[in-house]
Amino acid sequence: MDKIVIVGGRKLKGEVEISGAKNSALPIMAATLLAEEESIIENVPDLRDIHTMIRLLRALGAKAQYDNGRVVVRPGKNIKPIAPYKLVSTMRASVCVLGPLLARTGSAQVSLPGGCVIGPRPIDLHLKGLEGLGAEIDVQHGYVNAQAKKKLRGHDIYLGGSFGSSVLATDNVMMAAVLSQGTTQIESAACEPEVVDLARFLKKMGAKISGEGSPRIEIEGVKKLRGAHYAIIPDRIEAATYIFSAAMTAGDVLVKKMEPSHQNAVIDKLTLSGVRLQKSKNSIRVRRTGKLRPVDVTTLPYPGFPTDLQAQMMALMAVTPGISVITEKIYPDRFMHVSELNRMGSKIFIEGSSAIVHGVKHLSGAPVMASDLRASAALVIAGLVAEGTTEVHRVYHLDRGYEKLETKFTSLGASIHRERE
Ligand code: EPZ
Repeated sequence: MDKIVIVGGRKLKGEVEISGAKNSALPIMAATLLAEEESIIENVPDLRDIHTMIRLLRALGAKAQYDNGRVVVRPGKNIKPIAPYKLVSTMRASVCVLGPLLARTGSAQVSLPGGCVIGPRPIDLHLKGLEGLGAEIDVQHGYVNAQAKKKLRGHDIYLGGSFGSSVLATDNVMMAAVLSQGTTQIESAACEPEVVDLARFLKKMGAKISGEGSPRIEIEGVKKLRGAHYAIIPDRIEAATYIFSAAMTAGDVLVKKMEPSHQNAVIDKLTLSGVRLQKSKNSIRVRRTGKLRPVDVTTLPYPGFPTDLQAQMMALMAVTPGISVITEKIYPDRFMHVSELNRMGSKIFIEGSSAIVHGVKHLSGAPVMASDLRASAALVIAGLVAEGTTEVHRVYHLDRGYEKLETKFTSLGASIHRERE
């Protein structure tokens, strides 16, 4: 297994280009199953999760390949609607083949994804939504068995849960509803840009959808969809991770090929903490010359502050003078990175679903263990400002979500490389 080795203390300077959004690409790749014809998806990042989805599409009987940022999928006529445990267990986003399989073949057998290190991750809202469209669902031997004895029918579906809206449940219901008979209204739909991206891809396939990006999405079912050619939006979490690293190192970085309008919550918090952010059409310039100021942050569904940036924000707070508080409202247990950051000298205390961060003058480089994708990113950016050498172990998590991470940071002047252990 590889490790990432970082020698901290360098200010980041220069330009970095953002890759396509993993969390858009995965559901869109699943959505290709809704047509027999070929779909082509561009701007797809070269990541482990993307290759897992390719393997899953092939296991379902589709022809699928990845080549230099482009995914080509030919589902054909004979889809096998069984998503095996071996693949689903390695990537939770596999659950988003459930809606397309059900809509296209009338049945789906998808392994239950289970929880993960960021806490319990139920799929009750996915199942409730699909049942609302007329599917019969039963869960046996670790598999969700969904059957549509008659054609799926449009329905009013409320998708709000105890932790707000659900991104992939909205995706699954939307993908099943596009081939249902009649009209579906999803209430309390997730508003994330990745949901909007999926809706746009589905519309290119011939679907009739309106209201995407708002909490009420309306879908008028159609009989058939065609293949489509589409380019994925830039990854807002990757973009913000580079923004945070520039802010932490008191650098001057132009983050390019990104969508500034997806970063309003981040811009708001970083501006309050003393970072200068200059928006242009597809880029943000990040500069910091003065001291960081403490801020309080609560994670919320979009357009709130993303849970997928909570760990990176905490790394920044760790070196911000004063006391900052971060409250996690999406995954209340998503704090695995705290003990690792504390090994690097930070002073962070967990109180229920909040972390109280007492800023320290210096972090000190240490060997640390990555627990999940975003926790790994936080440890890397903490390493960039730490004194001495930080070794981030178990980097396979990073390879799930950050394309060319070491190359991008190196081009900004960081001392970072990968070593085989
Ligand atoms: C997506 O997961 C992302 N994954 C996650 O990114 C992200 O953290 C999450 O949305 C929240 O923004 C992909 O897009 C592939 P949710 P998803 O359903 O859709 C609860 C990363 O690091 N819930 O929006 O699975 C759930 O437990 C990953 O890239 C239910 O209660 O998340 C959570 O508290 C990690 N019942 C809240 O809703 C359900 O049926 C939001 O989760 C579904 C979810």
